[in-house]
Amino acid sequence: MPALSSQQRSLTRFLIEAQREGQINAELRLLIEVVARACKRISVAVGKGALGGVLGDAVAAGGDGGASINVQGEAQKKLDVLSNDILLEANAWGGHLAGLASEEMDHSQPIPDAYPRGNYLLLFDPLDGSSNIDVNVSVGTIFSVLRSPEGVAEVGDEHFLQAGREQVAAGYCIYGPSTMLILTLGHGTHAFTLDREQGSFVLTKRDMRIPEETKEFAINMSNQRHWEAPMQAYVRDLLAGKEGPRGKDFNMRWIASMVADVHRLLTRGGIFIYPWDRKDPSKAGKLRLMYEANPMAMLVEQAGGAATNGRTRILDVPPTQLHQRVPVFLGSKREVEEATRYHVDHD
Ligand code: AHG
Ligand code: MN
Ligand code: MN
Ligand code: MN
Repeated sequence: MPALSSQQRSLTRFLIEAQREGQINAELRLLIEVVARACKRISVAVGKGALGGVLGDAVAAGGDGGASINVQGEAQKKLDVLSNDILLEANAWGGHLAGLASEEMDHSQPIPDAYPRGNYLLLFDPLDGSSNIDVNVSVGTIFSVLRSPEGVAEVGDEHFLQAGREQVAAGYCIYGPSTMLILTLGHGTHAFTLDREQGSFVLTKRDMRIPEETKEFAINMSNQRHWEAPMQAYVRDLLAGKEGPRGKDFNMRWIASMVADVHRLLTRGGIFIYPWDRKDPSKAGKLRLMYEANPMAMLVEQAGGAATNGRTRILDVPPTQLHQRVPVFLGSKREVEEATRYHVDHD
């Protein structure tokens, strides 16, 4: 294994250089370091699998032994809860946050008085792709950073309800054959690979770029009967292949871990769609705006891709609730524009 050349950049060096270039301040730099360290701990827990006693459903505290159900109505996995705890614990003494919000917590949490507070808000999906944990398929952690409003003694849910374009940083960590941190500070999307011997993330791809065209789509087709008409029309034409109106054949991938499906399209192009479906119309699809769609949309746009809810840019969607859902169309710019055109022309 060739030794890492001195030209290799650690995450720490990359963040110092970003600060020197005025892209971030010291507080945000240190927040990203804390989140990256927490992701390393989650990677270790994920990697232990059955040996770490972390598989299977979490049991509701003080209950009858049934699974604990989160605010989403999902049965929590042990790793959902453990990953959430790791992120809370890592940030308690960080001093960079005014508050945190998570898929696994009903409401946001202000940093308690006893702990140091800072000027940022951290939102996260501590473990994305939970349904894949017990079958040893890649999962991840998704995070989003917003500025905390000035002069607020104690932040509440309402202070987190900022449009995605207000994010100052976003990223995910994917726990796959290798553990990778994909990060944007608003100046490109960059990939770091965890060097387990050194215990540090090393820059392995600066400025990821998504090809504008693609022949690969990621959709859970089993929901097709629940989709609205423009989505049905778009997929019908897609599946018609080169004999159809699109004039080319497409391939399909669906891993059911957003981090894994998005990582693939960031690496080689593609379109990822989780559309509105009438299974539960009020939920507007399955994915959550604040800590799944917004961070992924920022990463994708910073890599030259596009992200809409089928009609408008995801980063411009005004949030009204912390756990609100949003339809997601993101990836290769031209393909997202095409899928969005079907919806806009239909309306
Ligand atoms: P989470 O595990 O954080 O609840 O998110 C799961 C999401 C996302 O990761 C994935 O793209 C999608 O759910 C898969 O949905 P289906 O199970 O309907 O395919
Ligand atoms: Mn979940
Ligand atoms: Mn998720
Ligand atoms: Mn999750």
